[in-house]
Order: sequence, then C-alpha cells, then structure tokens
Amino acid sequence: MPKDARPVRHLISLDDLSDAELRHLVGRSAAFAAGTADAGRPLAGLVTGVYFAKTSTRTRTAFSAGTLRLGGSLIAYGPGDLQTNTGETSEDTGRVLSRMLDVLVARTAGDPREMRAWARQQRMAVINAMSAEEHPTQALTDLTTLYQHFGRLDGLRVLYLGEGNNTATALALALTRYPGVELELRTPPGYGLPTALAQRAARQAASCGAVLRESHTMAALPGDFDVVYTTRWQTTGTAKADPDWRAVFAPFQVRADLWADSPKAVFLHDLPAHRGEEVTAEVLDGPMSLAFEQAENKMHSAMAVLEWCRGAGED
Ligand code: CP
Repeated sequence: MPKDARPVRHLISLDDLSDAELRHLVGRSAAFAAGTADAGRPLAGLVTGVYFAKTSTRTRTAFSAGTLRLGGSLIAYGPGDLQTNTGETSEDTGRVLSRMLDVLVARTAGDPREMRAWARQQRMAVINAMSAEEHPTQALTDLTTLYQHFGRLDGLRVLYLGEGNNTATALALALTRYPGVELELRTPPGYGLPTALAQRAARQAASCGAVLRESHTMAALPGDFDVVYTTRWQTTGTAKADPDWRAVFAPFQVRADLWADSPKAVFLHDLPAHRGEEVTAEVLDGPMSLAFEQAENKMHSAMAVLEWCRGAGED
C-alpha cells in the first residue's frame, strides 16, 4: 500500500514518459523558469532521498533545492553511505527505502538494472539523476532551454558534437519525438551512441517525421543549424581505455568557425565544461551560449519532475 493516496511515478528512462507527459514536463519547467507557474507546496510532508554515487554540482543541487522549494524535506547519501557497499541487494534497498522515503533521486554509473530494482514498488518514486546509459533529466533541461529560446521544438535542426554518452542518448531519445526535428550527431570513431539506443531513437524519429543521423567525421557538415551542442569529453564516472583518445576527439571541438555556416545557432553545453577541450572559451562565454541559462533550468525541470512524480502540477 502507498504511504498516501498520491500517485507514484518513476522516471528512469525517457521511455517512461508518454509524449503528452514529456510535453507537460517541458512546458511546466519553462513556466517555473518564467515565474508563471504556481508551485505551491506539493511536497509538504514528503521526504526526498538524494543518493549520488558520482560527483555532481548541478543535478544534485537542482533536486535538493527543488525539493525544498516545493515544501519537502531532504536526506542526502554519498557514495559510501548505503549498505549496498557491504552487499545488501538493490531489491532489499528499494524495499526498505520506500517505507521511509517518498522520492529517491539517484545518480549511479553501474548496472542499469539497479534503478529498476529500486522502482519495483509503488510507494517511492525513483528518478534517474544520471546513469551509465541515460541522463533523462538533463534532456528535459535541454528541451526546456530550447523551448524557452525558440518557442517550439518541432522542426529544430540540432548539431551534437562529441561522445555518444548518456547526455547524447537522452537528447536523442527526447528530440526524436518532435516532428521535423533533425538531429545530426558527429561522434568520434569508437565513441558513438550505443547501437541499441541509437536504433530506438531512429525508430522513434521515423514514426514522427524527425531525422536522426550519426557519423564519425567532421567532413561534409551541413549548415543552417539552430543549435550546436557538446558535452565534456570525460563523461562523469567514466574513463577511456585508449591513452590517445584526445587525438580522436580533437576534430570535434566546438569552435567559433562553426558559426560561419550557422550564424543564428545557439550553443548548449550540459556542463561542467573544460574550455580548450570540447569547446573554446570564445564560444562557451560568447553571445551564442545559453549554457548557464541551461544550468539554471536544471532546477526548474527538477521541480517539474518532482511534482509530476507525486501527481501534482497537472491541470
Ligand atoms: N550536467 C550535469 O549533470 O551536471 P552535474 O554533473 O554537475 O550534475
């Protein structure tokens, strides 16, 4: 039995959201950002557990501040805190935490089945704050930032440069639900989107009139993009086996000369950034950059997700 009558919804993958729910969360995040949403205190009396097994500045702060702004209370766990370290199973951990917490926000980099095991109950909502294969709340933030700027997502032409990591995967799974979107990924050879996820996104794109293209070279790059997106080359919680990986990534650096063919494009970066690696300072700190608005939107989209996962914020 749930601890109270409010719904419990999990967000572990973008696949957990219907198209209507995705649009609702993007619109609600934008309304929080604009100050036009009536937040209220939908988490009053509820407790959010925030468990980060990997480092985080934005996501952890966004869900912590978001919980407090929505009237809830917080318990924070670091990587060494839970008895999973001494062998307690994920299933038992979820069963126990769900009797005390109302929401669990978690960042892991390990077995993707761990979060699904925690979610095998309907008392505590489980939110993926980044796992090895997907970073769904980052995609909500990214779509919110684009929706704020363009007033639409349909038909946007987006260029993604860099590793096909969990941010890229989530971006692909989210954007390919919007008709007319063209998402062009240029990923270094050997560092592309995972095949199964790329196929899922491509199927979605085909069914809604969007286009997903991925190649591993910077040659023959088309122009007129609305958006240029990159992420840092060393994805949080991962290491590269090839000692010469930087040489493979170097051609994919975002530099100002990309704007010659896409003069109106905005620049997005999920941050943290390493100026001089994946992006030059001229771009990250330049007039085309929305990266710090995007960082602020992490909190607005966290609030939208937190209220949604407990059945609030809907008409
Ligand atoms: N973009 C992002 O997830 O930032 P953090 O790693 O700081 O949470």
